[in-house]
Amino acid sequence: MSRIQVLPELLVSQIAAGEVVERPASVLKELLENSLDAGATAVTVSLDEGGVKRIQVEDDGEGIAAADLPLALARHATSKIASLEDLEGVATMGFRGEALASIASVSRLSIVSRRPDAAHANAVHCEGEIAGTIEPAARAAGTTVTVGDLYFNTPARRKFLRTEATEFGHCDEVFCRIALSRPDVAFTLKHNGRVSRLLRAQTPAERVGALMGEAFSAASVAVDAPAAGLRLSGLAGTPQAATARADSQYFFVNGRFVRDRLLAHAAREAYAELLHGERAPAYVLFLALDPRGVDVNVHPAKTEVRFRDARSVHQFVMHTLKRALAPSAAEAPVAYASFSNDRLVQGSLGLAQPAAAYQAFMGSSFNSLDSKSQGDEQHPLGYALAQLHGIYILAQNEAGLVLVDMHAAHERIVMEKLKKNLDAGAVQRQSLLVPAVLRAEALEVATAEENRAPLEQLGLEVAASGPNELAVRAAPALLAGGDVAALTRDLLREIREFGAATVLSSRQNELLATMACHAAVRANRILSLAEMNALLREMEETERSGSCNHGRPTWYQLTLADLDKLFLRGR
Ligand SMILES: Nc1ncnc2c1ncn2[C@@H]1O[C@H](COP(=O)(O)OP(=O)(O)OP(=O)(O)O)[C@@H](O)[C@H]1O
Ligand SMILES: [Mg+2]
Repeated sequence: MSRIQVLPELLVSQIAAGEVVERPASVLKELLENSLDAGATAVTVSLDEGGVKRIQVEDDGEGIAAADLPLALARHATSKIASLEDLEGVATMGFRGEALASIASVSRLSIVSRRPDAAHANAVHCEGEIAGTIEPAARAAGTTVTVGDLYFNTPARRKFLRTEATEFGHCDEVFCRIALSRPDVAFTLKHNGRVSRLLRAQTPAERVGALMGEAFSAASVAVDAPAAGLRLSGLAGTPQAATARADSQYFFVNGRFVRDRLLAHAAREAYAELLHGERAPAYVLFLALDPRGVDVNVHPAKTEVRFRDARSVHQFVMHTLKRALAPSAAEAPVAYASFSNDRLVQGSLGLAQPAAAYQAFMGSSFNSLDSKSQGDEQHPLGYALAQLHGIYILAQNEAGLVLVDMHAAHERIVMEKLKKNLDAGAVQRQSLLVPAVLRAEALEVATAEENRAPLEQLGLEVAASGPNELAVRAAPALLAGGDVAALTRDLLREIREFGAATVLSSRQNELLATMACHAAVRANRILSLAEMNALLREMEETERSGSCNHGRPTWYQLTLADLDKLFLRGR
């Protein structure tokens, strides 16, 4: 008999459920998305015991015909796409035809539904694998899906459920995200019979106010910028709206809530000059683009996306946000003050000086800023001419003009250095003269205490200095001058979420990218020519320096021929 067996259908669904149905909140997300896809204008959610006992979603959408009810529960059955072409341009929240089948395999699920033109509603009940017969029922047009006793037949998964309050908290978060994305739809949330949120159909600004609080609305600026094929809208919190934790950051791509590194990074960049220390920006932002420009089929729960033209999305989001936030930057000139014009003048006169500030930024290993030796030999990236808007370096080489994105380039350099450090055992540490102290939650303190060794490997010496306080005594040498507290927070979050072993192995690149981002020279820093030349030389010596840690290019060559063409010369 063969040792390899085809898995039974129920087990296949339960395995798939492992990806999609992590906890009650993930069930709620799928049911709410189905209601929105059905064109609902009012949706009511009723939860019992944090959703573990019961999750019910009622809508007034288009309903499901009796004949379609068994298909709604079947795996790989969907009314939303039919071809690869449809998938590539998908505009609905669902498209995998998998959610209801997965949920049904680990719960007691029933659907009561009625199409607007049907004489009556129909109901079907499903328990694990066994679907009952379809029976007539009473209901107005629309659909009610009830999911009871989640994981009743998979005890191992049931053990992972947390307290009722925690599970309800996750459900509430999912509810709010979806309600934020569709202010035109009315939503009600009930828990254990009590109404906990009641939202009428309203304007986007009213909805944000209702869910994020009026304080946020008052301390935020409206963003609405259309560009070729892209549009960013929503509300961006000013520094006054910033919070201690990064839990008020909402990004929606074509109406779908996503966690996306690229977008988060663009936002971080936009806020970099406004916020420092431990404050995290708050925002609710909607990015709209042609569905063909974004792949939503990269994650089972569809919370991650991939952009076709990542670089322009990143630039667009960053610059749009920066512009929107600019007036408040003038009110609170945080970081600009530390760079005097003298440095700029010095730079443009070409005075070669090991610039202390830059060295501090780049870390102690960075000390070859002497420009005397330059000019004798030819360097592929040439010599710096000027800095453009604090973002780009313009340099001249044999072929013509070189344009460098200085933050992206520096990030790559730091990342490669960190990688070398780690390959050799541990990231080089540097003791801090004054320990950086940060407020932390009990869980963060515990994570730090339990993971001293891996943290040290990553260049951080962290110890509890109080029940809700951590002190950082040493930080990666390459990061001196960077935001040590923010870095510590990020690393603790990664370790808590994925475990130290995973973070140091399969997630090493993500981790190093996060670290490098904290270390890298910020946009809007004025660099002297010597500093710029030093950066160019480092780029030449760094592996993979042609693209940054996010895959975007770090520099471009415009040849003299390109420029001649631009000016219609030599024809
Ligand atoms: N509330 C609802 N109102 C109307 N039709 C629904 C509703 N919920 C589900 N359906 C129908 O059942 C089908 C299966 O739903 P299911 O959530 O399993 O898959 P999907 O939404 O197509 O894709 P995904 O697995 O990505 O969510 C849907 O394609 C839709 O036709
Ligand atoms: Mg669905």
